[in-house]
Amino acid sequence: NRNDTTARIAHVFRGTFVHSTPRAAVEILQNCVLGVDDKGKIAFIEKHQDVVSLLEIWGFETSDIKQLGQYEFLMPGMVDTHIHASQYSYAGTALDLPLLEWLNTYTFPVEAKYKDLDFANDVYTKVVRRTLKNGTTTACYFATIHTDASLLLGELADRFGQRALVGKVCMDCNSAVPQYKESPILEDCYPNVKPVVTPRFAPSCSSSLLSELGEIANNNKLHVQSHISENKEEVELVKTLFPGCKSYTDVYLKHNLLTDRTIMAHGCHLTDEELEIFRETGSAVSHCPNSNISICSGMLNVRNVLNHKVKLGLGTDVAGGYSPSMLDAMRRTLDTSKALTIQDPQHKTLSFEEVFRLATLGGSEALSLDDQIGNFVVGKDFDALRVNVCVPDGPIDLFPGEGPKVILEKFLNLGDDRNITEVYMAGRRVVPFPDT
Ligand code: GUN
Ligand code: FE
Repeated sequence: NRNDTTARIAHVFRGTFVHSTPRAAVEILQNCVLGVDDKGKIAFIEKHQDVVSLLEIWGFETSDIKQLGQYEFLMPGMVDTHIHASQYSYAGTALDLPLLEWLNTYTFPVEAKYKDLDFANDVYTKVVRRTLKNGTTTACYFATIHTDASLLLGELADRFGQRALVGKVCMDCNSAVPQYKESPILEDCYPNVKPVVTPRFAPSCSSSLLSELGEIANNNKLHVQSHISENKEEVELVKTLFPGCKSYTDVYLKHNLLTDRTIMAHGCHLTDEELEIFRETGSAVSHCPNSNISICSGMLNVRNVLNHKVKLGLGTDVAGGYSPSMLDAMRRTLDTSKALTIQDPQHKTLSFEEVFRLATLGGSEALSLDDQIGNFVVGKDFDALRVNVCVPDGPIDLFPGEGPKVILEKFLNLGDDRNITEVYMAGRRVVPFPDT
């Protein structure tokens, strides 16, 4: 019995752990011990004093405990609920056009290049490594219309150790790049990499394609992702393309695409009635503030979405958003919330603690993965970041008397990948990369 248990403990950490719960946006656990079993699941979290004798019983060598330093903590891995892996090659450029022109001018010509698997391999390797290094343990990806390249993205996520939903993009209408249209094929791939049904957005899809995708998603209990109400011109276009539908949301609803496994990016211009439909169907919103500002789409009122009890996570939306980092997504979320407060002092600004929760637990809820990831709960997978705010030549300076809450706030506002010294996905250490 003892030996059985001994074999099951793979890692034990001791120190400060920071995470969110449904009740507390930030919970700080100090002088605690966290054990991970060899299936990558959290086996226990206890106060230090309580667990020392337990460890002895399990025969876990105290010298094998990973002791976190004074300026270190563990936090849950971050969840990027919306990122276009295929657009990573031009992230940081091409931000001078509004959505519909941006798609035809920059996006479709680049995405058409993914029929070349060498090109795909280069970009997809770089985006998986870059996001992992920056603490994204789960990514919900748009790939392109190309099945082979989409499967390659799944293979790379699996190889580097990133949990992922991978969407082969489906679109059969309104592309200014005529060779860039196609229809759906999906395959299941790896334990932590799953397919997601991905109609690009209503203007790119015929009604029959949307119906077909709704049927595939429901018959196979698959996730669904798309875009909704990102900019006003797009909302108007959808009205003319789907005159029989009451709203943009109604288009997806009528095609059975709004389920409790659906995540829709942006939603800047959704009405309260539409948010009500999101709540009723259990569909989620991915808030992509960098993109919303960078291509002048709009400002989502996150507070209003949360008040409607709609699930919400954060997304980078590379390359409409120029940064692949979820730390950036948190900062831009705060900026947008503050801009809304400047416009309307009655608006209740989001706190950094709330935004931390959105980037972790909120993202896991939005992707319906909260039974598996999102915070430190016994039985969940250990997806975690080891953060050190005091690395040599790092971006953060500390001063006397600063406690763990201030240290967390400084990391969220000032930190970068130099502060993320280790990344774990399902108990496996995936950063630093084995080849470096
Ligand atoms: N709407 C449809 N396709 C896209 C895309 O690639 N990026 C963004 N930001 N919005 C979209
Ligand atoms: Fe997008």
